[in-house]
Amino acid sequence: MSALLRILGLPALFLSKVPGLGSVIRALSTSVGQKLLMATSGLSLVDFLIVHLGGNLQLYAGEEVFNAYAAKLHSLGPLLAIAEIGLFSMFALHIGLAVSTAAMNSTARASSYAMKQTKQGLFVLPSGGASNWMMVTGLLIFVFLVSHILDMKLKKGFGVSYPPAAADAGDATNAFQNVKAVLQHPPHAILYFVCLIALGIHLSHGIRSALQTFGLNHKNWNFILRWTGFLLAWAIAGGFISVVAWALAVKN
Ligand code: HEM
Repeated sequence: MSALLRILGLPALFLSKVPGLGSVIRALSTSVGQKLLMATSGLSLVDFLIVHLGGNLQLYAGEEVFNAYAAKLHSLGPLLAIAEIGLFSMFALHIGLAVSTAAMNSTARASSYAMKQTKQGLFVLPSGGASNWMMVTGLLIFVFLVSHILDMKLKKGFGVSYPPAAADAGDATNAFQNVKAVLQHPPHAILYFVCLIALGIHLSHGIRSALQTFGLNHKNWNFILRWTGFLLAWAIAGGFISVVAWALAVKN
Protein backbone atom coordinates (compact mmCIF):
# COMPACT_ATOMS: atom_id res chain seq x y z
CA MET A 1 0.00 0.00 0.00
CA SER A 2 2.81 2.41 0.83
CA ALA A 3 4.38 1.67 -2.60
CA LEU A 4 1.05 2.62 -4.24
CA LEU A 5 0.95 5.82 -2.20
CA ARG A 6 4.47 6.70 -3.28
CA ILE A 7 3.58 6.15 -6.97
CA LEU A 8 0.40 8.21 -6.65
CA GLY A 9 2.38 10.95 -4.97
CA LEU A 10 4.99 11.21 -7.75
CA PRO A 11 3.24 13.88 -9.88
CA ALA A 12 2.72 16.06 -6.78
CA LEU A 13 6.36 15.52 -5.75
CA PHE A 14 7.52 16.54 -9.23
CA LEU A 15 5.28 19.64 -9.31
CA SER A 16 6.37 20.69 -5.81
CA LYS A 17 9.91 21.17 -7.20
CA VAL A 18 8.71 23.67 -9.82
CA PRO A 19 9.72 27.17 -8.62
CA GLY A 20 6.68 29.17 -7.54
CA LEU A 21 4.39 26.13 -7.55
CA GLY A 22 6.02 24.39 -4.58
CA SER A 23 4.09 26.15 -1.80
CA VAL A 24 0.74 25.74 -3.61
CA ILE A 25 1.35 22.02 -4.16
CA ARG A 26 2.44 21.55 -0.55
CA ALA A 27 -0.75 23.30 0.66
CA LEU A 28 -2.91 21.13 -1.62
CA SER A 29 -1.14 17.98 -0.42
CA THR A 30 -2.32 18.46 3.16
CA SER A 31 -5.49 16.66 4.18
CA VAL A 32 -7.39 19.99 4.09
CA GLY A 33 -6.03 20.70 0.60
CA GLN A 34 -7.04 17.25 -0.60
CA LYS A 35 -10.54 17.70 0.81
CA LEU A 36 -10.83 21.02 -1.06
CA LEU A 37 -9.66 19.41 -4.32
CA MET A 38 -12.06 16.52 -3.82
CA ALA A 39 -14.96 18.91 -3.21
CA THR A 40 -14.03 21.18 -6.15
CA SER A 41 -13.63 18.31 -8.62
CA GLY A 42 -16.81 16.64 -7.30
CA LEU A 43 -18.93 19.78 -7.70
CA SER A 44 -17.50 20.39 -11.21
CA LEU A 45 -18.58 16.86 -12.11
CA VAL A 46 -22.05 17.62 -10.72
CA ASP A 47 -22.16 20.66 -13.05
CA PHE A 48 -21.25 18.39 -15.96
CA LEU A 49 -23.97 15.91 -14.95
CA ILE A 50 -26.62 18.65 -14.89
CA VAL A 51 -25.63 19.84 -18.38
CA HIS A 52 -25.38 16.23 -19.64
CA LEU A 53 -28.81 15.40 -18.22
CA GLY A 54 -30.23 18.52 -19.92
CA GLY A 55 -28.88 17.19 -23.23
CA ASN A 56 -30.22 13.69 -22.63
CA LEU A 57 -33.70 14.88 -21.72
CA GLN A 58 -33.95 16.16 -25.30
CA LEU A 59 -34.47 12.51 -26.23
CA TYR A 60 -38.06 13.10 -25.12
CA ALA A 61 -38.46 15.71 -27.88
CA GLY A 62 -37.86 13.04 -30.54
CA GLU A 63 -35.24 11.85 -33.00
CA GLU A 64 -34.87 15.06 -35.00
CA VAL A 65 -34.36 17.32 -31.99
CA PHE A 66 -31.90 14.97 -30.28
CA ASN A 67 -29.84 14.35 -33.42
CA ALA A 68 -29.69 18.10 -34.07
CA TYR A 69 -28.45 18.61 -30.50
CA ALA A 70 -25.79 15.88 -30.94
CA ALA A 71 -24.69 17.36 -34.28
CA LYS A 72 -24.39 20.83 -32.72
CA LEU A 73 -22.25 19.39 -29.92
CA HIS A 74 -19.94 17.66 -32.40
CA SER A 75 -19.69 20.79 -34.55
CA LEU A 76 -17.88 22.50 -31.65
CA GLY A 77 -14.76 20.59 -32.81
CA PRO A 78 -11.65 21.76 -30.93
CA LEU A 79 -13.76 23.45 -28.23
CA LEU A 80 -15.41 20.11 -27.49
CA ALA A 81 -11.98 18.45 -27.39
CA ILE A 82 -10.78 21.03 -24.82
CA ALA A 83 -13.94 20.53 -22.72
CA GLU A 84 -13.42 16.76 -22.88
CA ILE A 85 -9.81 17.06 -21.70
CA GLY A 86 -11.02 19.25 -18.79
CA LEU A 87 -13.80 16.78 -17.97
CA PHE A 88 -11.58 13.70 -18.02
CA SER A 89 -8.94 15.53 -15.93
CA MET A 90 -11.65 16.23 -13.32
CA PHE A 91 -12.67 12.57 -13.29
CA ALA A 92 -8.99 11.51 -13.02
CA LEU A 93 -8.33 13.98 -10.18
CA HIS A 94 -11.47 12.95 -8.28
CA ILE A 95 -10.78 9.22 -8.65
CA GLY A 96 -7.05 9.64 -7.92
CA LEU A 97 -7.79 11.54 -4.70
CA ALA A 98 -10.38 8.95 -3.66
CA VAL A 99 -7.87 6.12 -4.14
CA SER A 100 -5.09 7.97 -2.35
CA THR A 101 -7.38 8.94 0.58
CA ALA A 102 -8.58 5.32 0.88
CA ALA A 103 -4.99 4.07 0.80
CA MET A 104 -3.98 6.56 3.51
CA ASN A 105 -7.02 5.67 5.65
CA SER A 106 -6.31 1.97 5.44
CA THR A 107 -2.66 2.57 6.39
CA ALA A 108 -3.73 4.76 9.30
CA ARG A 109 -6.50 2.42 10.38
CA ALA A 110 -4.28 0.17 12.50
CA SER A 111 -6.56 1.08 15.40
CA SER A 112 -9.84 0.60 13.52
CA TYR A 113 -10.23 4.31 13.11
CA ALA A 114 -13.56 6.09 13.60
CA MET A 115 -14.20 6.69 9.85
CA LYS A 116 -16.70 3.84 10.06
CA GLN A 117 -19.05 5.97 12.08
CA THR A 118 -21.24 8.42 10.25
CA LYS A 119 -23.37 10.98 11.99
CA GLN A 120 -25.68 11.21 9.02
CA GLY A 121 -27.95 8.40 10.11
CA LEU A 122 -30.13 6.39 7.78
CA PHE A 123 -31.52 9.34 5.89
CA VAL A 124 -28.63 9.76 3.48
CA LEU A 125 -26.60 6.58 3.64
CA PRO A 126 -27.43 3.16 5.01
CA SER A 127 -25.30 2.08 7.96
CA GLY A 128 -21.77 0.84 7.25
CA GLY A 129 -19.93 4.15 7.19
CA ALA A 130 -20.00 7.03 4.72
CA SER A 131 -16.49 6.36 3.41
CA ASN A 132 -17.25 2.69 2.67
CA TRP A 133 -20.43 3.59 0.80
CA MET A 134 -18.65 6.30 -1.17
CA MET A 135 -15.99 3.79 -2.22
CA VAL A 136 -18.45 1.06 -3.27
CA THR A 137 -20.75 3.44 -5.14
CA GLY A 138 -17.74 5.28 -6.63
CA LEU A 139 -16.42 1.97 -7.95
CA LEU A 140 -19.80 1.20 -9.56
CA ILE A 141 -19.82 4.66 -11.18
CA PHE A 142 -16.32 3.97 -12.51
CA VAL A 143 -17.47 0.64 -14.02
CA PHE A 144 -20.43 2.51 -15.52
CA LEU A 145 -18.15 5.17 -17.00
CA VAL A 146 -15.88 2.65 -18.70
CA SER A 147 -18.89 0.86 -20.22
CA HIS A 148 -20.57 4.18 -21.06
CA ILE A 149 -17.62 5.54 -23.04
CA LEU A 150 -17.44 2.25 -24.96
CA ASP A 151 -21.23 2.30 -25.51
CA MET A 152 -21.93 5.91 -26.43
CA LYS A 153 -18.66 7.51 -27.48
CA LEU A 154 -16.80 4.66 -29.18
CA LYS A 155 -19.95 2.71 -30.20
CA LYS A 156 -18.32 -0.53 -29.10
CA GLY A 157 -20.78 -1.60 -26.35
CA PHE A 158 -20.59 -5.36 -25.73
CA GLY A 159 -23.47 -7.14 -27.46
CA VAL A 160 -25.16 -3.92 -28.68
CA SER A 161 -26.41 -3.87 -32.30
CA TYR A 162 -25.99 -0.28 -33.42
CA PRO A 163 -27.70 1.05 -36.55
CA PRO A 164 -25.34 0.75 -39.56
CA ALA A 165 -23.96 4.32 -39.77
CA ALA A 166 -22.73 4.13 -36.15
CA ALA A 167 -19.52 2.49 -37.35
CA ASP A 168 -18.16 6.04 -37.59
CA ALA A 169 -17.72 6.94 -33.93
CA GLY A 170 -18.02 10.65 -34.71
CA ASP A 171 -21.32 10.37 -36.52
CA ALA A 172 -24.19 12.23 -34.86
CA THR A 173 -26.96 11.51 -37.37
CA ASN A 174 -27.82 8.27 -35.59
CA ALA A 175 -27.35 9.54 -32.04
CA PHE A 176 -30.98 8.92 -31.08
CA GLN A 177 -31.03 5.34 -32.39
CA ASN A 178 -27.60 4.63 -30.87
CA VAL A 179 -28.78 5.61 -27.39
CA LYS A 180 -31.85 3.44 -27.78
CA ALA A 181 -29.77 0.51 -29.08
CA VAL A 182 -27.65 0.65 -25.90
CA LEU A 183 -30.46 1.18 -23.41
CA GLN A 184 -32.76 -1.44 -24.98
CA HIS A 185 -30.05 -4.10 -24.61
CA PRO A 186 -31.17 -5.85 -21.37
CA PRO A 187 -27.72 -6.35 -19.74
CA HIS A 188 -26.95 -2.67 -20.39
CA ALA A 189 -30.32 -1.54 -19.05
CA ILE A 190 -29.65 -3.50 -15.80
CA LEU A 191 -26.08 -2.17 -15.52
CA TYR A 192 -27.30 1.40 -16.08
CA PHE A 193 -30.14 1.08 -13.52
CA VAL A 194 -27.85 -0.32 -10.82
CA CYS A 195 -25.05 2.17 -11.45
CA LEU A 196 -27.42 5.15 -11.65
CA ILE A 197 -28.87 4.21 -8.25
CA ALA A 198 -25.26 4.07 -7.00
CA LEU A 199 -24.82 7.56 -8.51
CA GLY A 200 -27.82 8.84 -6.51
CA ILE A 201 -26.41 7.43 -3.26
CA HIS A 202 -22.91 8.76 -4.04
CA LEU A 203 -24.17 12.25 -4.84
CA SER A 204 -26.54 12.50 -1.88
CA HIS A 205 -23.58 12.21 0.47
CA GLY A 206 -21.03 13.85 -1.85
CA ILE A 207 -22.89 17.10 -2.52
CA ARG A 208 -23.57 17.69 1.14
CA SER A 209 -20.03 16.82 2.11
CA ALA A 210 -18.55 19.14 -0.56
CA LEU A 211 -20.73 22.05 0.57
CA GLN A 212 -19.56 21.44 4.15
CA THR A 213 -15.94 21.46 2.98
CA PHE A 214 -16.56 24.94 1.60
CA GLY A 215 -17.58 26.08 5.05
CA LEU A 216 -21.35 25.58 5.07
CA ASN A 217 -21.09 23.63 8.29
CA HIS A 218 -23.27 24.81 11.12
CA LYS A 219 -25.92 22.95 13.08
CA ASN A 220 -28.58 25.37 11.78
CA TRP A 221 -27.49 24.60 8.22
CA ASN A 222 -27.18 20.85 8.41
CA PHE A 223 -30.86 20.12 7.84
CA ILE A 224 -30.91 22.33 4.70
CA LEU A 225 -27.63 20.85 3.44
CA ARG A 226 -28.86 17.31 3.89
CA TRP A 227 -32.04 18.05 1.93
CA THR A 228 -30.17 19.98 -0.78
CA GLY A 229 -27.74 17.08 -1.26
CA PHE A 230 -30.54 14.53 -1.22
CA LEU A 231 -32.92 16.34 -3.61
CA LEU A 232 -30.27 17.46 -6.10
CA ALA A 233 -28.69 13.99 -6.11
CA TRP A 234 -31.94 12.18 -6.79
CA ALA A 235 -33.12 14.79 -9.31
CA ILE A 236 -29.96 14.06 -11.31
CA ALA A 237 -29.92 10.28 -10.85
CA GLY A 238 -33.72 10.09 -11.27
CA GLY A 239 -33.51 12.11 -14.50
CA PHE A 240 -31.00 9.64 -15.99
CA ILE A 241 -32.98 6.65 -14.70
CA SER A 242 -36.11 8.06 -16.37
CA VAL A 243 -34.22 8.03 -19.70
CA VAL A 244 -33.41 4.32 -19.30
CA ALA A 245 -37.04 3.60 -18.37
CA TRP A 246 -38.24 5.61 -21.38
CA ALA A 247 -35.95 3.70 -23.79
CA LEU A 248 -37.31 0.40 -22.47
CA ALA A 249 -40.91 1.61 -22.72
CA VAL A 250 -40.81 2.95 -26.32
CA LYS A 251 -41.26 0.37 -29.05
CA ASN A 252 -38.83 1.63 -31.73
C1 HEM B 1 -29.31 7.34 -19.21
C2 HEM B 1 -28.16 7.87 -18.91
C3 HEM B 1 -27.20 8.44 -19.93
C4 HEM B 1 -27.32 8.56 -21.29
C5 HEM B 1 -28.47 8.15 -22.19
C6 HEM B 1 -26.08 9.19 -21.78
C7 HEM B 1 -25.81 9.49 -23.09
C8 HEM B 1 -24.58 9.86 -23.58
C9 HEM B 1 -24.25 10.04 -24.97
C10 HEM B 1 -25.22 9.87 -26.13
C11 HEM B 1 -22.95 10.38 -25.05
C12 HEM B 1 -22.11 10.61 -26.33
C13 HEM B 1 -21.99 12.05 -26.68
C14 HEM B 1 -21.27 12.10 -28.00
O1 HEM B 1 -21.92 11.86 -29.00
O2 HEM B 1 -20.08 12.40 -28.00
C15 HEM B 1 -22.44 10.43 -23.70
C16 HEM B 1 -21.15 10.76 -23.36
C17 HEM B 1 -20.68 10.80 -22.06
N1 HEM B 1 -21.37 10.56 -20.92
FE1 HEM B 1 -23.31 10.02 -20.80
N2 HEM B 1 -25.28 9.45 -20.69
C18 HEM B 1 -25.92 9.00 -19.54
C19 HEM B 1 -25.45 9.08 -18.25
C20 HEM B 1 -24.18 9.50 -17.91
C21 HEM B 1 -23.68 9.57 -16.55
C22 HEM B 1 -24.49 9.23 -15.30
C23 HEM B 1 -22.37 9.98 -16.64
C24 HEM B 1 -21.38 10.21 -15.54
C25 HEM B 1 -21.38 9.59 -14.38
C26 HEM B 1 -22.07 10.17 -18.03
C27 HEM B 1 -20.84 10.56 -18.51
C28 HEM B 1 -20.54 10.71 -19.85
C29 HEM B 1 -19.22 11.08 -20.34
C30 HEM B 1 -18.00 11.36 -19.46
C31 HEM B 1 -19.31 11.14 -21.72
C32 HEM B 1 -18.22 11.50 -22.72
C33 HEM B 1 -18.31 13.00 -22.94
C34 HEM B 1 -17.43 13.42 -24.08
O3 HEM B 1 -16.35 12.89 -24.21
O4 HEM B 1 -17.86 14.30 -24.81
N3 HEM B 1 -23.18 9.88 -18.77
N4 HEM B 1 -23.46 10.11 -22.83
